[in-house]
Amino acid sequence: MIVTFLLNGEIVEVDTPPTQTLLDYLRETRDLKGTKEGCNEGDCGACSIMVTDATGARSLNACILFLPQLHGKAVRTVEGLAAPDGTLHPVQQAMIDHHGSQCGFCTPGFVMSMATAHLNGRTDHNEALAGNLCRCTGYAPIIRAAKSAEDAPIPDHVRDTPLELPNETQIPAPETSDALAQWCLAHPEGTLIAGATDVGLWVTKNFADRDGKLDEVAFLNRCTDLQKIDDQGDALRIGAGVTMTDVLAAVGDLHPSYAEMIRRYGSLQVRNAATIGGNIANGSPIGDNPPALIALGAILHLRQGDTRRDLPIEDYFIDYGKQDRKPGEFVEAVTIPKSAAALRCYKLSKRFDQDISAVCGAFNITVIDEQITDARIAFGGMAGTPKRAPLSEAALIGKPWSLETISNAAAGLRKDFQPMSDMRASADYRMEAAIGQLHRYFDDMNGNETDVLEVRA
Ligand SMILES: Cc1cc2nc3c(=O)[nH]c(=O)nc-3n(C[C@H](O)[C@H](O)[C@H](O)COP(=O)(O)OP(=O)(O)OC[C@H]3O[C@@H](n4cnc5c(N)ncnc54)[C@H](O)[C@@H]3O)c2cc1C
Ligand code: FES
Ligand code: FES
Repeated sequence: MIVTFLLNGEIVEVDTPPTQTLLDYLRETRDLKGTKEGCNEGDCGACSIMVTDATGARSLNACILFLPQLHGKAVRTVEGLAAPDGTLHPVQQAMIDHHGSQCGFCTPGFVMSMATAHLNGRTDHNEALAGNLCRCTGYAPIIRAAKSAEDAPIPDHVRDTPLELPNETQIPAPETSDALAQWCLAHPEGTLIAGATDVGLWVTKNFADRDGKLDEVAFLNRCTDLQKIDDQGDALRIGAGVTMTDVLAAVGDLHPSYAEMIRRYGSLQVRNAATIGGNIANGSPIGDNPPALIALGAILHLRQGDTRRDLPIEDYFIDYGKQDRKPGEFVEAVTIPKSAAALRCYKLSKRFDQDISAVCGAFNITVIDEQITDARIAFGGMAGTPKRAPLSEAALIGKPWSLETISNAAAGLRKDFQPMSDMRASADYRMEAAIGQLHRYFDDMNGNETDVLEVRA
């Protein structure tokens, strides 16, 4: 298929298989080796590049970005960061001035993240750079460099304009959800690719493209109607194609605890690509959205051809690797209430930033006149699917809001879940952590909030 995009200001037309990554193309075909390959799985940021489309510029990981996802967009790599006359970009100069580079392997990725943040006027450097790993310089000089470049003018040449391409493309990328529905009916065994933060790894780690498993793919990123968030008064309907960055922006004021959890979801580069639909559809037992969405009482909207059905999101997750989705059916959207003052989400992972949860608990307990009238508790990492805690919930409803009630409900958790041991946590640790999270919820709701950052001196 032919993919057309701007690369450092120059139009390129590439005849490519659908699952060729941008990183491979840059390094192997274009000999642009400034973009580094570290982990090849979205974790280290050494491959960070800037991508501009109609919605603006964002940093992405080139190692898990397929070329068709770039059709019509503008890509800037470290080779295109300095001005044509050789003048360094302000963040490059600042990295030199502040000794922000030692071995230098991570540096191109850092400067691309920094340049994108600089272009977007972001000064939350810890967050913007959380997806970039440096093993030898240490982060202090890098953050100093980013700060010192904050007020420098944005060089004109990094303000890319995406291409305007005719609608008919040779790319298997439907332009509307109606067209996507038709594609799914015609290819019931086909694979949808949204942000590719999961599918990308099937290629780079499992070589799924070599055994024919990805012969039939459709890219979702041109279905702009799936990228909408509709305000329905007391609810938000979030399209499956909305990225986690945009979910974060939408729920920030409404559900601060959910938003705080999303802030620790992967890194900025991952959140800029990953979609909420992909996170739900893959049914991972450790996905971070599902527990929050279950605790919120979210409704999932599925579509097969012209037939649509809605279900409480917890019913979608049937068993490990098994979801309630028919052949040719896809996730169209999810609806969440706008108000849930009692919602709290706790993500427990080995690292604070950029890590998958060992246990992710979400709690939404309604208390009226000191009596518990409703309870929704859900966990990730405690079973083969994201799962509600029915016995624990039953032990709460109708009881007084007290430590004794909470302790009884914690005993219910021991019956609700039989967690497993893996490299993230042992079964016992998971159970103790879940019980601890329920107690933490009780403390939080009583005004004794735990600040997980307090461990940072
Ligand atoms: C470095 C890194 C860090 C990560 N950190 C986290 C984290 O902290 N928390 C977390 O929960 N996840 C994390 N993930 C996992 C991943 O980001 C999420 O699962 C992501 O939301 C998947 O969305 P996507 O759009 O990238 O999906 P894709 O990779 O494009 O697709 C994932 C699956 O969903 C299917 N699919 C996609 N869209 C639809 C749809 N609309 N209907 C039906 N099927 C569909 C695809 O066919 C595929 O099976 C991380 C991943 C990486 C690489
Ligand atoms: S090579 Fe590590 S994120 Fe891409
Ligand atoms: S300078 Fe060596 S890894 Fe960052």
